[in-house]
Amino acid sequence: SQKIYILAIESSCDDTAAAVMCNAQILSNVVANQKIHEAYGGVVPELASRAHQQHIVPVVDQALKKAKIDKSQLSAIAFTRGPGLMGSLLVGTSFAKSLAYGLGIPLIDVNHMQAHILAHFIEEKDFNKPPFPFLALTISGGHTQIVKVNDHFDMEVIGETIDDAVGEAFDKSGKLLGLGYPAGPEIDKRAKLGNPKAFKFTKPKVDGLNFSFSGLKTAILYFVQKQVKANPNFIEERLNDICASIQYTIIGILMDKLKLASKQTGITHIAIGGGVSANSGIREALKQSEAKFGWTTYIPKFEYTTDNAAMIAIVGHLKYLKGEYAQQNVMASARLKI
Ligand code: KG4
Ligand code: ZN
Repeated sequence: SQKIYILAIESSCDDTAAAVMCNAQILSNVVANQKIHEAYGGVVPELASRAHQQHIVPVVDQALKKAKIDKSQLSAIAFTRGPGLMGSLLVGTSFAKSLAYGLGIPLIDVNHMQAHILAHFIEEKDFNKPPFPFLALTISGGHTQIVKVNDHFDMEVIGETIDDAVGEAFDKSGKLLGLGYPAGPEIDKRAKLGNPKAFKFTKPKVDGLNFSFSGLKTAILYFVQKQVKANPNFIEERLNDICASIQYTIIGILMDKLKLASKQTGITHIAIGGGVSANSGIREALKQSEAKFGWTTYIPKFEYTTDNAAMIAIVGHLKYLKGEYAQQNVMASARLKI
């Protein structure tokens, strides 16, 4: 049978990534992280765009080399069209268009948020695990969404953040405590050593399945300021307890909304993705939900859950099978919807 080789390119935020897939199997998955943003405590869009321009050719070369294939064997080029930072998206989009045009092969546009969800189907033989319909919680530094997934390309956003993403809640809280960027992994590490009930932060009141995290950040700021006034060494002395309490509050917020979404839809297959799904507390809470609520939960391999091009490749493969190609005049779209 004929082999389908997809080269995929992801450049929506601060990671330049390329992957090669053959018949839904990953042959290579290369990511170049941009260290430059650490000094600024967050992603600087203009610097991200320039770093993508420096990284894209070597990253694609490396992906092809690791996959041990020549570009003449490629069946199609898939790329992230959006959502994301415009200056970053433009680099991957222009590169993908030029390469597809040069090679005379189809170009396939991919929605980054769909890709986070379809990442569950990488290396899944019949592309049906998790089974439809399932709920997908996508949590990262840029996104917080609950999506009802009826089919591979039939998805409905049923809840999302009205302000900060959950990863930002981790990162901004960490910044207040003097932790480096991104603070999520450090908070996770310290939370394991602290008491999650040491301090209580009120959960935001947001209707329905939407989320809000900016109020929590402010609550933590005021709390820390007040405590430091009384005891200048408060942060050092209680850092693990503070981290554990912040993480406990955030997980509570996520789990409350997931429970409500499951109740409203009657769906008990729950999938999570995005960088924050690496969090040990959220993984533990999900595992417990299997016995507690009768859910079946799904978490992709770590390398497919943070921003990566393997997830773009699987969407490319599925669209290739349907013959859904993009035209050369396709444009990057910073606010592309699912
Ligand atoms: O998916 P990702 O690599 O990039 C995007 O933002 O799209 O996610 C990065 C986010 C950061 O906010 C980081 O702090 C958070 O994921 N993160 C974590 C953990 N590992 C990464 N947050 C909490 N606990 C973790 N273990
Ligand atoms: Zn992402």
